[in-house]
Amino acid sequence: MIKVDSLTKKYGGFTAVDDVCFTARPGRVTGFLGPNGAGKSTTMRIMVGLTPATSGIAEVSGRRFADLPNPGLEVGVLLDASAQHAGRTGREILTIAARTMGLSTRRVDEMLERVSLTPEESGRRVRNYSLGMRQRLGIATALLGEPEVLILDEPANGLDPAGIRWMRDLLRGYADQGGTVLLSSHLLHEIEVIADDLVVIGQGRIVAQGTKAELLASAGTLVRTSDVPTLARALVDADLDFVESAATAGADALRVEADPELVGQVAQRAGVALAELRAADGAGLEEMFLELTAETQREGAAA
Ligand SMILES: Nc1ncnc2c1ncn2[C@@H]1O[C@H](COP(=O)(O)OP(=O)(O)O)[C@@H](O)[C@H]1O
Ligand SMILES: [Mg+2]
Repeated sequence: MIKVDSLTKKYGGFTAVDDVCFTARPGRVTGFLGPNGAGKSTTMRIMVGLTPATSGIAEVSGRRFADLPNPGLEVGVLLDASAQHAGRTGREILTIAARTMGLSTRRVDEMLERVSLTPEESGRRVRNYSLGMRQRLGIATALLGEPEVLILDEPANGLDPAGIRWMRDLLRGYADQGGTVLLSSHLLHEIEVIADDLVVIGQGRIVAQGTKAELLASAGTLVRTSDVPTLARALVDADLDFVESAATAGADALRVEADPELVGQVAQRAGVALAELRAADGAGLEEMFLELTAETQREGAAA
């Protein structure tokens, strides 16, 4: 279990993490989703004691990270996979971590096998590793102490599609056995396929959270017509909320917060011919995420 309560981090006058609250539960994969610069890494660094919070609390298994007697046995951490000592071999890095945690070096071989690093690869210096190999080594380090909680910052970066699939299966299995998994990503679809719960962050603030099913279900109806103005007027008259869906579905589409049946009736009464009428699946989440990303890019361009 991971609990974050009213967490805030300021760098001078800039608020990188703004009153963030969420819980990651055992047996579930929680996806921490947000565009670049949203505050994901800062939040995770605070959780594992690498950055002090300005205010608020982050707890792992009911305690602050700094109060865990042997943290590697409670929480596996993968933050920046390229931060490993480049002059050591993969096996050396794992062996040192195992000794620090008081584990037998037999665990090292088990973990190397688990992440499919061959004896030849684990004998190479990390400076000669691909990013994907570094991610595998980072995961081996995180799993070493058989912790109940995993905190992984963009673990899919640098993995090829087969590697992403491998990681997804590994994390799924981990959560199915009762583990708590928190992983971040700046890519909606990467998170969507693996997460049970989602926490969405933009410019330091939580903008949505809930189960994936909840967030996808609240998407309403996608409707397409060549006469958008007439349909829009009819929807306003019927007191239905809607947004233009141009970003995800094209300029002739609206997303309406109502069932397809009701939207169809409104269109029929207004005499509007429809080109398409269907449940909007994840469109609401996707639009929200595109909007967040666009805002971030506008700010980046302005800066
Ligand atoms: N040490 C720091 N000093 C000043 N600003 C920082 C520092 N670390 C991160 N930031 C800023 O905080 C914001 C959030 O960064 P970060 O947590 O790395 O975002 P993410 O991981 O979601 O991409 C960014 O605008 C970043 O520039
Ligand atoms: Mg980051």
